[in-house]
Amino acid sequence: MQVKQLVYERFRNLQDGTFEPYEGVNVITGENAQGKTNLLEAVWLFTGGKSFRGAKDRELVGFDAEDSRLTLDFFAAGRDQRAVIDIKQRRTAQLNGIAQSSAAKLAGVLCGVVFSPAHLSLIKGGPAERRHLMDAAYCQLRPSYVKTLTEYTRILTQRNALCKSGDMSAGASELFDLWDKQLAQAGCLLIYARQLYLKSMLPKARQIYHGLSGGKEEFDLRYLSTVPIADGQTAGEIAATMYQELRIRRKDDLAAGFTTVGPHRDDLEVLIDGHSARQYGSQGQQRSAVLAMKLAEATLLKDVTGERPIALLDDVMSELDTTRQDYILNHIRDWQVFITCCDPTPLLRLTDGRCFTMKNGVLSTN
Ligand SMILES: Nc1ncnc2c1ncn2[C@@H]1O[C@H](COP(=O)(O)OP(=O)(O)O)[C@@H](O)[C@H]1O
Ligand SMILES: [Mg+2]
Repeated sequence: MQVKQLVYERFRNLQDGTFEPYEGVNVITGENAQGKTNLLEAVWLFTGGKSFRGAKDRELVGFDAEDSRLTLDFFAAGRDQRAVIDIKQRRTAQLNGIAQSSAAKLAGVLCGVVFSPAHLSLIKGGPAERRHLMDAAYCQLRPSYVKTLTEYTRILTQRNALCKSGDMSAGASELFDLWDKQLAQAGCLLIYARQLYLKSMLPKARQIYHGLSGGKEEFDLRYLSTVPIADGQTAGEIAATMYQELRIRRKDDLAAGFTTVGPHRDDLEVLIDGHSARQYGSQGQQRSAVLAMKLAEATLLKDVTGERPIALLDDVMSELDTTRQDYILNHIRDWQVFITCCDPTPLLRLTDGRCFTMKNGVLSTN
């Protein structure tokens, strides 16, 4: 897919205007607080996602305006299309002239991945974010996975309530038997899906990381489960192991007041040259690792959907050495890429692409 033109009106600090990107690499430079990230955010909203900055809809409307409108012309599914997003208190959308019930309905029409410095918390932050990365990515590939996640959470909430009650009666024990069985049935699917996702994504991430580091470093991922599973187990085998483990831990869980084992407690370890990126990685390595995972996600999306997603890379260049910057600028050939950066020097290394400057909300072509 390809973004052909974005028209923005009363959006954040952007002066009303038109952005006509190139089919390959687009670099937007400018000093701090000029509107570079705002421009990427405007494009990102067409993927149907929430703002990658976690902004509320009304924060997207220019300070002195009542509403905002974004119009995107793009090529996807073999034809030219147009989507419009109107933002007032909330976001509404039209696709090819037809009103959608919500802006989220645009999901899947324009596919994209985004890297923002906030995503560095994928490495530095807690396990919840890494679990979310796996689950969200798998949802994009298999939308029905959302149901499995919801079902697991529902059963978990009930089992947790029972743990909290501290009830050791025979009645409670029967209920535990029931929840343990159901939780293991749903939980095994989560663990299985995440492992499947990692198995498909890892070779791609390794290859990208290899390129980023100029062939000097090895990237690896390890799924750390609280359920003592072995490699290559079927979902049924995982369910049996998880059920056993839940039974063994029942007493501990009653003492803790929550369920201490299951995919909701699992983690993903990111390794560079065999060492934890979280504990030992440099800023540049951590940045490269997140970028490799994000681009691998895009590659996988491309393989599964047959469409090339767009890549939005916000502030990706800082703290990267010239080898890594060169790779980003000149070797991501598969997609339309949007890169923002403050320092324009790396652009001297851009062999094929287009540069724009953002100043005070005004975009100009270099
Ligand atoms: N709703 C809004 N209306 C007007 N200006 C806004 C709005 N939201 C953010 N801004 C301004 O946009 C600027 C930040 O733009 P941003 O795209 O993050 O800059 P950068 O070029 O550093 O990426 C800030 O000056 C901020 O005050
Ligand atoms: Mg920015």
